[in-house]
Amino acid sequence: MSVSQDDRISLSYAETFQNHDKPHRIFSQFRAEEPVAWCPEPWGGPGYWSITKYDDIQEISKLPKVFSSDQLHGGITLPSPEMIAHRQNITTEQAENPSELSDFQGGRSMITMDPPVHNEHRRMVAPGFTPNTLDSLIPNIRGRVEVLLESLEGQSECEFVSSVAAELPIQMLAELFAVPQEVRHKLFEWSNLIIGGDDPDITLSRDELMAAFMELAGFAMQLYTERQQNPGEDLISMLVNTKVNGEPMNMADYLSAFVLLVVAGNETTRNSISGGVLALSQHPAEKQKLLDDPSLIPAAVDEIVRWVHPVIYMRRTAVEDYELRGLKIKKGDKLALWYMSGNRDEEKWPDSFTFNVSRDGPRHLSFGYGQHLCIGWRLAEMQLRVVLEELLTRYPDIRATGEVRRIKTNFLNSIKQMPVALA
Ligand code: HEM
Repeated sequence: MSVSQDDRISLSYAETFQNHDKPHRIFSQFRAEEPVAWCPEPWGGPGYWSITKYDDIQEISKLPKVFSSDQLHGGITLPSPEMIAHRQNITTEQAENPSELSDFQGGRSMITMDPPVHNEHRRMVAPGFTPNTLDSLIPNIRGRVEVLLESLEGQSECEFVSSVAAELPIQMLAELFAVPQEVRHKLFEWSNLIIGGDDPDITLSRDELMAAFMELAGFAMQLYTERQQNPGEDLISMLVNTKVNGEPMNMADYLSAFVLLVVAGNETTRNSISGGVLALSQHPAEKQKLLDDPSLIPAAVDEIVRWVHPVIYMRRTAVEDYELRGLKIKKGDKLALWYMSGNRDEEKWPDSFTFNVSRDGPRHLSFGYGQHLCIGWRLAEMQLRVVLEELLTRYPDIRATGEVRRIKTNFLNSIKQMPVALA
């Protein structure tokens, strides 16, 4: 029996992803029966193709000239302006053009660009992510993790997301931006607001949201001027002072690049850290393997990122007709590359639903693939590795207890609260 219409439509609702059993059931059925599947959308959306097999996700990711990420074609998330308008109770026009922020919204960052312009924008910050640059950060990461974990001493339990998982990535972001550590709380708040659109605990009124965006833009613009006058080795200086075709980046693009780095480097790493501790709590025998043999931690990092899939999907839009598994994808069609599903493809890992910290096998898709492969993947892996090394040494009995609360979104696998016992 094929996947029901209700199940297909449910993939558009954030609620469906509050617990992953249902989407995994739907994706398993798609992979077995209909790997390229048309899914209707609610709220007047035109519908889209669900791509659920590992090989197909890779094939599409290697063809940015056919499958565009460009904002002009709709960008990297599924909801169309009509759908956003319906959900947020605003007009389609407002959803297309948030007026007060026209400058800010008018910008594009590398993640919503296609080659060749994508390559130029990516090159601007690439020096900040070379293996050498990142290796030199390891002592810094370890020092920060030590301080965070020392602050937990004497406690038998804590709320892990705010105490550890959220703290490290924003501290590292403040470091990469070379801004005072006190600013990190603002970075955290902004990042939550940007991705938390469907979550009642996070969503603000339209006016409040605008005010928060204006505050963010004001902060970023001030940094722009500062780093123009006093360039350093940090990511902001790279954005401000590198020229594209002899021209500096315009302000709208700069603001978008700033937001991208804040969100991309923050939420995802946080969720791989909290999701990793959750997975080890749910699989004590796997955790014991790491306690017995810490040299397995790098392999465990790979497995955690496969298992957790911090990014659930990315969208592409076909800009020419293309045939995939005998089906015609038409110019203009939307596609969802479900990384969450590709990472459980039984053809790649026969026991894909087993969490195994010592597994071999192909590289997971959590960092994407091809043209837009995550620029920060090494940094994220380093943070996760150091946290696990220090955490398992100091708190070998750490385990998640109580209710895990997720942010309401079908885009990111985002844990907002997770109580843990430390001893
Ligand atoms: C576990 C942590 C992380 C995960 C799972 C993750 C995931 C991803 C994914 C799936 C993409 C591909 C987007 C696409 O195909 O359209 C991406 C791109 C990107 N990520 Fe990450 N990311 C993580 C950490 C980071 C960090 C730490 C940074 C920077 C500090 C970062 C910065 C970026 C940027 C700038 C892009 C855009 C690259 C491009 O368009 O060429 N990410 N990330």
